[in-house]
Amino acid sequence: MSSVTAPRLGLPNLGYGVGLRNCHLQHIMEHGAQVDWFEIISENFIGNYGWSRYVLDSLAERMPIVMHGVSLSLGSSDPLDFHYLGQLKGLASAVAPAWISDHLCWTGVAGINSHDLLPLPLNEESFNHVARRLKVVQEYLERPLLIENPSSYLTFSQSTIPEWEFLGALTRETGCGLLLDVNNVYVSAHNHGFDAEHYIRAIPADRVVQLHIAGPTDYGDYLIDTHDHPVPARVWELYALAQELTGGVSTLLEWDANIPDYPNLLAELDKARQVLAGRRPQVPVAQATAGTPLSNPIDFQLNEPHVRAATP
Ligand SMILES: [Fe+2]
Repeated sequence: MSSVTAPRLGLPNLGYGVGLRNCHLQHIMEHGAQVDWFEIISENFIGNYGWSRYVLDSLAERMPIVMHGVSLSLGSSDPLDFHYLGQLKGLASAVAPAWISDHLCWTGVAGINSHDLLPLPLNEESFNHVARRLKVVQEYLERPLLIENPSSYLTFSQSTIPEWEFLGALTRETGCGLLLDVNNVYVSAHNHGFDAEHYIRAIPADRVVQLHIAGPTDYGDYLIDTHDHPVPARVWELYALAQELTGGVSTLLEWDANIPDYPNLLAELDKARQVLAGRRPQVPVAQATAGTPLSNPIDFQLNEPHVRAATP
């Protein structure tokens, strides 16, 4: 595929979009999409032939849809799951997405799905493992994928390659594109003590096809990637930098818990347009109060040893 090596894979700037979530479907059907494009969680629509799938199919007839997956598990030592890949390919043939994305992570091992996006050691051995698997996946799906930088809360003593270098090398080696989540950069930079701006400047801008923005929560020692608050000022700064460096790529607002109604979601997305017009929303990072549960369905307490042990 010659297009794989072309800048930005020949993929367009879709404009401003939001994640398609069930709580908004009725409003969207009654009042229209009012965004340029939608991102779906692929797994929510595999084997789904209900009303939400009907809404998706009707939207896909008139606007771009992007498939964002959470089950590829590129970093796992388990074999690639070709049953899942077959389902993904089937959904793609029905929805005709502008592109498909997943994460630099692993989600399980020995057939057990953690339902979380877990970090992996970043070194030559893991690079060769991930790159080999990604090539197989892209060949099977007959298209380049976008790979997203994860948020993380621990690092590995076996890591020898910074994440930004790992992703840059991955796109050169495999022809994949990059989904740069500037909120994840902010979260991981805070948790691990690296410079978020350096990370974004080090990523090959001509391989970035899409940006994610979201709002995290400050739990004290850690920022957690909760996707349940407005986007804070620092993330907007990083977003502006990424758009400056890329020259303008597709923007997607992620909001997955405590989801506002659709008009307020659109108001948050509109801040991205305002940022590109030079304004900077002065939104503080949401602070967790004592006993505030994580919005992610993870069953642990903040004072558990494995959380403390991850202190950078
Ligand atoms: Fe993201």
